[in-house]
Amino acid sequence: MQAIEAIRKRRAVRTYTDHPVDDATIDQLLRVALLAPTGSGSQAWSVMVVRDAARRRSIADLVIEGAGHYFAVMRPPAPGATPEAHAQWAHEYAEAILASYRVAPVWILGLLVPRNNYPESMREGGHIDDLLSLGFAMENLFVAARAIGLGTVPTTAFQRFEKDRLRTIVGLPADVDPAIITPLGTPPAFPEGLPPAIKKMRRPWRTLVHDDTWGNTRDS
Ligand SMILES: Cc1cc2nc3c(=O)[nH]c(=O)nc-3n(C[C@H](O)[C@H](O)[C@H](O)COP(=O)(O)O)c2cc1C
Repeated sequence: MQAIEAIRKRRAVRTYTDHPVDDATIDQLLRVALLAPTGSGSQAWSVMVVRDAARRRSIADLVIEGAGHYFAVMRPPAPGATPEAHAQWAHEYAEAILASYRVAPVWILGLLVPRNNYPESMREGGHIDDLLSLGFAMENLFVAARAIGLGTVPTTAFQRFEKDRLRTIVGLPADVDPAIITPLGTPPAFPEGLPPAIKKMRRPWRTLVHDDTWGNTRDS
C-alpha cells in the first residue's frame, strides 16, 4: 500500500485478534518509526516491544481500567444517574469496547527518555520538541503498520494516571515516560471512517486551512 493510501486508511483500532505478528515485521516497523525527524537530533525516545503474555495482560488491564476512569470524566452521566452508577457504566463501557486488548499479540510502548541535552533556557521548548518527535515516530509506526494490514491506536490518556504501575510492569526507570502506547495486531476488520460521534465533531478540512492570512479559510 502506498504512503498516501496508508495515511488515509489508518484508523484507531480498538478490536484485535490474537493472530501473531512475527519478529521481522515488528523490527521493520520499529526501524521506520525511528527514522522520524527528531528536534535538535536529540532522539529522546525509545520503543519497547512487549510480547511477554503476563506483561501484555497487565498492560491491557491497566489500560482498560484507565479507560473506565477516562470515560467517567469525559462522558456526561445519563439523566438521573448517581456518580456511582455513572462510574459503573464507564467501567462496563471500557470493558465492552476494549476487551480484545487482552488478546493483542504485542504492545509497543513509545517512551520519552530524558537526554539532558538542552541548556536551561531551552529546556521547556526542548521538552515539547522531544514529545513532538516521539509523536512523529509513533505516527510513522501507525501508518507503516496500516500499510501492512496491522492495527494500532495511539493511547495516551488511558495510562495517564497509572504510569508508575506501568513502569513497574515493564521495569522502566522513574524518569522514562511511557507517553504513548499501542497494541499491535490484526483487527478482525479495519474501521471504515470515524465512529458517528467523532465524525460529527470533525471540522471540515476547508475550515482549517488559511491562505496567506489568518481567517482566510477555504470555506470563506
Ligand atoms: C495524542 C493522542 C492521544 C490519544 N489518546 C487516546 C487514548 O488514550 N485512547 C484511545 O482509545 N484513543 C486515543 N487516541 C485516538 C483518538 O481518539 C483517535 O485518533 C481519533 O478519535 C480519530 O480517530 P482515527 O485515529 O481513527 O482517525 C489518541 C489520539 C491522539 C492523537
